[in-house]
Amino acid sequence: MKFFIDTANLDEILAARELGLLDGVTTNPSLIAKIVGDSSNFTYRDFKDHIARICDIVDGPVSAEVTCLNAEEMIVEGEELAAIHENVVIKCPLTINGLKAIRHFSEQGIPTNATLVFSPNQALLAAKAGASYVSPFVGRLDDISTEGMALVEQIVRIYDNYGFLTQVIVASVRHPQHVVDSAMVGADIATIPFSVIRQLANHPLTDLGLKKFMEDASVMKK
Ligand code: E4P
Repeated sequence: MKFFIDTANLDEILAARELGLLDGVTTNPSLIAKIVGDSSNFTYRDFKDHIARICDIVDGPVSAEVTCLNAEEMIVEGEELAAIHENVVIKCPLTINGLKAIRHFSEQGIPTNATLVFSPNQALLAAKAGASYVSPFVGRLDDISTEGMALVEQIVRIYDNYGFLTQVIVASVRHPQHVVDSAMVGADIATIPFSVIRQLANHPLTDLGLKKFMEDASVMKK
């Protein structure tokens, strides 16, 4: 299973790369807004420059999301984003207009990520439109008392049944168990916040065992 990092923060992307755990990056307008903070001078040009900086760091797919609702505008914006770097993947919402844009990009050989996916039928449509990736949002489903990971399982099964090449990115990952479950159900990718990537390495018994080993190692004279 590939690890993408779900952030627009360059320091976090560099840190994930340093750990050897960086297969790709996903961003969305909310993650961009986090890095902009209170700056009122951030322009669309700055957004595109930021995506270019991310592409310089990661040797893998970088999802950049369109910021409009209408198919024609998504196509214009997506083509501009795709021109930034060959690794840019155009993230389109799973709406009727988003599907039209995905179909267009797929015909042009431009990779796409169908986002805001909450049902197996939406995932089926994404695959039929030729999306390169589909992003079911598990955390947001869990938030409304619906088993997010059950959706991922359904999508993996449906794609396997018909040999769809669309890769499943588990998105809206909130904790380490989401990562375990993603791997157990055979998702292609999990896109993970940096805080969760760090948590994956933690175990209290590791800490306890290490403390004892360090104490015992101190009996050896150097
Ligand atoms: C990634 O593609 C999604 O945009 C992201 O994982 C959404 O996560 P959230 O539900 O924590 O905002």
